[in-house]
Amino acid sequence: MSIIADDNDFKQPREAKNPVTKAETTEFDKNFENCIRPKSFDTYIGQSALKEALQITIEASKKRELPLDHLLFYGPPGLGKTTLAGVIAEQMGAEIKITSAPALERPRDIIGILMSLKGGEILFIDEIHRLNKVAEEILYPAMEDFVLDMTTGKSQTVKTLRIPLPKFTLIGATTKAGALSGPLRDRFGIIHRLEFYTEDELAQVIKRTAGILNIEIDTKGAHAIARRSRGTPRIANRLVKRVSDYALVKHDGKITETIANQALDILKIDELGLDNTDRNLLKLIIEKYNGGPVGIETIATAIGEDTRTIEDVCEPYLLQAGLLQRTPRGRKVSPSAYGHLGYKKYSDQQTLF
Ligand code: ADE
Repeated sequence: MSIIADDNDFKQPREAKNPVTKAETTEFDKNFENCIRPKSFDTYIGQSALKEALQITIEASKKRELPLDHLLFYGPPGLGKTTLAGVIAEQMGAEIKITSAPALERPRDIIGILMSLKGGEILFIDEIHRLNKVAEEILYPAMEDFVLDMTTGKSQTVKTLRIPLPKFTLIGATTKAGALSGPLRDRFGIIHRLEFYTEDELAQVIKRTAGILNIEIDTKGAHAIARRSRGTPRIANRLVKRVSDYALVKHDGKITETIANQALDILKIDELGLDNTDRNLLKLIIEKYNGGPVGIETIATAIGEDTRTIEDVCEPYLLQAGLLQRTPRGRKVSPSAYGHLGYKKYSDQQTLF
């Protein structure tokens, strides 16, 4: 049977949206994550190469009695950039102020926060690629020389005032290192990429979180959740709670492999951690565009998502899992996506559904 789909077939809700697998932060996540966030390198699981490099940098800066160089973390959402900034602050014995670029829209927002900093303090700016030009210009001398250059007066009478700032460390986080302006990127002394977590690392994160939340889970149960968590601790932590709800209502509360798999099937999260949006995206490219390539705008319109969510939230994992490829002419699904979604064979439009 050949299935010819029309665009509306791929729009949500063909199957409902599934925010539990979306790594973007919500207000709920912020509160929840604050409770379970590791505070030290010993309790922070994964990113081992990065942790080692950071520990050396921190030791050196303590020995020199100087603040840490400005740091930039980049990588997909939900991998622990904010958490790592908190661990660094703890290790430095420094205070940390946490904000994000969209909250620094007006010049007075960034000026206010810079002027409130104390010596040695860490300023964490999330989504730093979204800073506007004016905020960036204010930040350059602050990062480089620890001064604020303020202008007063109009045209002929304009005066520049240099206000000294205490020495601080800026930690920027971004999901899109390429979207950062060159001059801003160049002002970071240390730039690190965060990697997706392995199944073993996620199973450790899950066990740790379950311990904090008093949830009983065995090793196989933790691995079952880890396998479907898209390499992302934020998703793993959310899934622990959802699976625990299921275990409590339908069984005795303990999470085993069977119970985890049942709960995740109900949530429509498949063996690779894909949700409805991911599957719709891949199916669209296979059924309507013969596997691609097809432009991101076309995909976004057809599945009813915005391009930013697709690029920043869905795609990084689909690319990493080898299900999707980016080409200069658009997105293409890879042969393994055909198999995963139950299509008979690559470049064959026949489906098994
Ligand atoms: N929760 C979220 N990220 C974590 C990590 N890297 N280690 C431990 N717990 C976490």
